[in-house]
Amino acid sequence: MQRPRSYLGRFCHAPVQGQVECLEDALVSVDEDGCIVSVLQPSDDGYNRLLSEGPVESMPKDAYVLPGFCDLHVHAPQWPQIGKALDVPLEVWLQRYTFPLEARYCDLGFARTAYGGLVADLLSNGTTTALYFATIHQDASRLLADICLEKGQRALIGKVVMDNPDQCPDIYRDRSTDAALRGTDDFITYVRSLNSDRIKPVVTPRFIPSCTDAALDGLGHIARSFACHVQTHCSESDWQHRYVLERHGMSDTESLDRFGLLTRHTVLAHGNFLSASNMDTLAARGCGVAHCPLSNAYFSNGVFPLKRALEKGVRVGLGSDISGGPSSFLPDSLRAAVLASRLLNDGVDCEKPYDDRGVRDTQIDWRTAFYLATRGGADALDLPVGSFEVGRQFDAVLIDPHAVGGSVNLMDGYDTVVEGLQKVLYTANKANIVRVWVAGRAVF
Ligand code: GUN
Ligand code: FE
Repeated sequence: MQRPRSYLGRFCHAPVQGQVECLEDALVSVDEDGCIVSVLQPSDDGYNRLLSEGPVESMPKDAYVLPGFCDLHVHAPQWPQIGKALDVPLEVWLQRYTFPLEARYCDLGFARTAYGGLVADLLSNGTTTALYFATIHQDASRLLADICLEKGQRALIGKVVMDNPDQCPDIYRDRSTDAALRGTDDFITYVRSLNSDRIKPVVTPRFIPSCTDAALDGLGHIARSFACHVQTHCSESDWQHRYVLERHGMSDTESLDRFGLLTRHTVLAHGNFLSASNMDTLAARGCGVAHCPLSNAYFSNGVFPLKRALEKGVRVGLGSDISGGPSSFLPDSLRAAVLASRLLNDGVDCEKPYDDRGVRDTQIDWRTAFYLATRGGADALDLPVGSFEVGRQFDAVLIDPHAVGGSVNLMDGYDTVVEGLQKVLYTANKANIVRVWVAGRAVF
């Protein structure tokens, strides 16, 4: 057996919602499978022995090692569209821009260029785990899994199901309900044949409007028989919420539940229109929510009641929702989560007196946002990552405040370590990310 490799530096994480912990001059030791086997501080027994025996890799002065970011909602095929097409409502955006773009992934050459760029982009931005929607295409979805495997990202990937001719254009629709279900089955089998515990398949009805009831029912059965993760969009915008009420006479949550699509392995994107009773259902089923504050600002007509969901015990992480959210740098979503919660709390219409303006006691702080971007996302997926504890995988990001081109200002003797962490989370840019590991392997 090889000796574990140790990393010496300043490790900061948020293993518990609302709290951060920074370990100075800590030694985090990782075995050949990427598993953390010890976390020692200078006063601990064995620290000096480990330090002298090695191998030890020292982090740069003032650098912060954080858990890798976990992005719970990424539309892989929309990567070429980041920063465009943000000026129309969701239902127009899908038909005018997004479905035509996703339809292009029948071309494997296009898919190879875009997916190669996407995965490299996300890794260099510190996203070590991503929950991906691919497209309806079998070959391109398999290619995304191959690329994640090769580049070393931890990835959960779904072949998207869209079989409803009323809502999906001819150029971008599963050929039939049967073909959609068989395609899901085949994709799960392919991903499992890769035999990697880093890459997992996900049952992925795009959202209720895109799917027939027969497809939703079939996917519920597939999710159960394969014990597979599930992802979909839920209660996102006024139009989407109303569409499901009109078609099914109930909310998204109630409808997904009767199809067996709400499980402990389900992640629902958005959830802005969830009622208190919907949240109780999600908590009871153990579902997670991908909070996508950037995309919500453009497409959702409202703010996700994040604090209410957390209080109800719903598991929540952050989603960039590329390209509805125009950033692949998850700290942008972390910052937007704090901002959105403050706008919800205080309200936005200054014509109203303060007491009538906002929704009281709904604001979260940067510590909770940091938790959501790391451990919260990991927990929603039941993955052993997201914090530096024995038994977890070493998925980490090294942030150097002094990196050339970086944007963090620390002044000697002015900031405590935790204040420095707050500055890093609020102000760091991509140039500050100098190294990224997944399962102990450097991937950037
Ligand atoms: N609802 C259905 N598809 C999508 C999508 O691609 N992005 C967002 N934000 N919402 C959706
Ligand atoms: Fe989305």
